[in-house]
Amino acid sequence: MTPPIRIVLSSDHAALALRAAIAAHLADMGHEVVDIGPTTTESTHYPAHGEAAARRVASGDCALGIILCGTGQGIMMAANKVKGIRCGVCSDPFSARMIRAHNDANMLSLGARVVGEGLALEIVDAFLGARFEGGRHQTRVEMITALEA
Ligand code: RB5
Repeated sequence: MTPPIRIVLSSDHAALALRAAIAAHLADMGHEVVDIGPTTTESTHYPAHGEAAARRVASGDCALGIILCGTGQGIMMAANKVKGIRCGVCSDPFSARMIRAHNDANMLSLGARVVGEGLALEIVDAFLGARFEGGRHQTRVEMITALEA
């Protein structure tokens, strides 16, 4: 059982329905969901939404972030430009578990045009259920952080 945490959610226009499903799922699990939009399917720009969510995590306002666009790729690229963010795109639960266990990811990105809702929720559960293993992985994560300097 994952203790309740504060999780920021955002997406572009391609992922509103899946984002809503994830928000409901997280709330059902007892998490505090900070859904920062957008709220309409009008075409928008994923870098702005990736950055906004990433800043909530980087500042410590939210413990983790989940972001979505059509492929999950563009919004992930934007989020990773924010200092302190480690975000991976996942299309399977194994990768979602490993980006936390080995890479200490603090954000997950999903492609709403890639994964269906059932799989997406399994990916979210795997991400939230995993823990960073530290040890040799700590050194490697510190090497990633050093690249930001
Ligand atoms: C929007 O059409 C699409 O480009 C966007 O959602 C995303 O897939 C970009 O990486």
